[in-house]
Amino acid sequence: MDASEGPPDVDRPADKGRFSEAHSAEVVAASFASATDPRLRQILSSLVHHLHAFVKDVELTEPEWELAIDFLTRTGHRSDDRRQEFILLSDVLGISMLVETINHRTGGRSTESTVLGPFHMVASPPRGLGDSIALDGKGTPCLVSGRVTGPDREPIPGARLDVWQANADGFYDVQQPDVQPELNLRGLFTADDEGRYWFRSIVPRYYPIPDDGPVGELLAATGRHPYRPAHLHFIVSANGYRPVTTHVFVADSPYLDSDAVFGVKDSLIRDVAEVDDPDRAAAAGLPNPFRALAFDPVLLRETTTP
Ligand code: BEZ
Ligand code: FE
Repeated sequence: MDASEGPPDVDRPADKGRFSEAHSAEVVAASFASATDPRLRQILSSLVHHLHAFVKDVELTEPEWELAIDFLTRTGHRSDDRRQEFILLSDVLGISMLVETINHRTGGRSTESTVLGPFHMVASPPRGLGDSIALDGKGTPCLVSGRVTGPDREPIPGARLDVWQANADGFYDVQQPDVQPELNLRGLFTADDEGRYWFRSIVPRYYPIPDDGPVGELLAATGRHPYRPAHLHFIVSANGYRPVTTHVFVADSPYLDSDAVFGVKDSLIRDVAEVDDPDRAAAAGLPNPFRALAFDPVLLRETTTP
């Protein structure tokens, strides 16, 4: 039989350097062989192998490929400097959490991290210990307090705590610029000489991630809800220590077991119990009774090896 005969997608040894169904990934990966950056070469080669394996696994049809291209195109068009639909897509696919978790392994020695989210888009205003960040007067008053320490539980004086949360209706200030006061429910606090911090806020509420774009379509098409459980965001930092980007989740919140972005870690869940103590309420400047959330962030030293 002539070497050029035979079914077109059957590989013969002479075809090895050419694109074929059987050797597609190796052939495309080899095209990156002369990339001088070894990390770029590694990433592209691995990406191509995984993508080709995926296409073969599901035997992707042409209409499905076109739908995917259209979806990604619309995801790009829905992104601008106020909204990043690609990050949202990464969030609902669990990629953001995976990257976060791989890059911030704690080995149980420090507070676990979770996603930054899209709403840390303005600098939090510096506030004094004990100040209230709830500028819109809505919600259940809550005292948030704790102590920042290092891995040996040594207090970290002057640690910085950048905090932000949604309001009682489930919206961040930047989502409702005409409704909420500017910088509502945001604050940058500096811990005292013993690493302690405290401020007044409200009990956070669960809320939906933005679901009026392609990512919302994906959730709806797959029967997934867009909600995140109630949480308060923190970035805790201090000189000589590794910063931690994290949340504290409210223990009795709905959606703790089905966070739309997979951000929940058990170590970050806290009770926000009611406190009935008129003296403490008066000292904190809160009505009695009030709710209290205690969170003691632990930071790793900068020099810690992974
Ligand atoms: C947030 O917690 O603010 C958030 C995180 C990921 C996607 C959307 C919102
Ligand atoms: Fe959030």
